[in-house]
Amino acid sequence: MSSDTKERLTNIPPNTTFMFGAGGHARELSEFVLHNQSMSGGNNESCIVYVTPTGTEKVLRTHKPNIAVFDNLGTSPDDEFFDTITENEFIGMLESEEAQDNPTSASVVLGIGSPKIREKVVYRLQKYRNIHYQNFYAVGSHISKFSWERFCPETFTGLIVGPGCVITVGVSVGQHVHLNTSCTLCHDVNIGDFSIIGPGSVICGNVDIGKRCCIGAGATVIDNVSITDDVTLGAGATVVENITKPGTYVGTPAKFLKQGSL
Ligand SMILES: CC(C)(COP(=O)(O)OP(=O)(O)OC[C@H]1O[C@@H](n2cnc3c(N)ncnc32)[C@H](O)[C@@H]1OP(=O)(O)O)[C@@H](O)C(=O)NCCC(=O)NCCS
Repeated sequence: MSSDTKERLTNIPPNTTFMFGAGGHARELSEFVLHNQSMSGGNNESCIVYVTPTGTEKVLRTHKPNIAVFDNLGTSPDDEFFDTITENEFIGMLESEEAQDNPTSASVVLGIGSPKIREKVVYRLQKYRNIHYQNFYAVGSHISKFSWERFCPETFTGLIVGPGCVITVGVSVGQHVHLNTSCTLCHDVNIGDFSIIGPGSVICGNVDIGKRCCIGAGATVIDNVSITDDVTLGAGATVVENITKPGTYVGTPAKFLKQGSL
């Protein structure tokens, strides 16, 4: 690590959120982090460092538009700290002598839209025990108290509930699940690890959604349906029967489009 990089990393404030990703998804989540409540006692301080895949150094140095976005939020730029580092630099920081001597936990949010890539990042980082994945829910979301008990911070990792979501009774979600803006989960819905529920989706009662699924914006899944792992649902799709084969499905009623998912 060059001395220049080392100095830059040393200047990162201790209460920083490390946001994996630096695209639109990460910028949306950054706003949640800065302005919404944490479920797990994570920090709400105005410090975000974007962590991008190693090899994108050149791109990330020119990624200043992120900062311009936050200048428009009405908060004083003087109070905030933004930067971008690569995943290798992040790991170097966790492995540095200073971190070994002072093992505080690094607070991480996955700002990556693809469930598969999110899972790969978590897998790559799993040996670093001092990483803490923030759970948070946006102000204006509703979580039934009968589901809330299952959402307690001790048992959850990386759960993100966007603004306007309604989560009713008996809902269970896995690790690193992201419920995007204004989605509705009716009673007794189960959602597997790393899955993302798109904005405005409605998941009716007694529905099981597998791991690494990506439910498109405005999709509907009717009652008593199961969706297997690794399914992408197109925007506006309506699922009316079980989906037992991984792949991409679109339309009303949803039909198989192709193999592979996001
Ligand atoms: C389903 C999806 C993943 C397919 O993307 P893709 O693999 O790039 O597919 P293409 O754009 O090549 O489209 C392939 C065919 O599917 C059709 N199609 C694509 N998305 C569709 C959708 N949501 N509903 C109905 N048909 C759709 C296209 O019209 C095209 O049909 P054709 O072959 O007859 O021309 C994508 O279109 C989609 O809906 N993504 C979800 C976006 C979203 O909701 N994001 C959440 C925002 S946070």
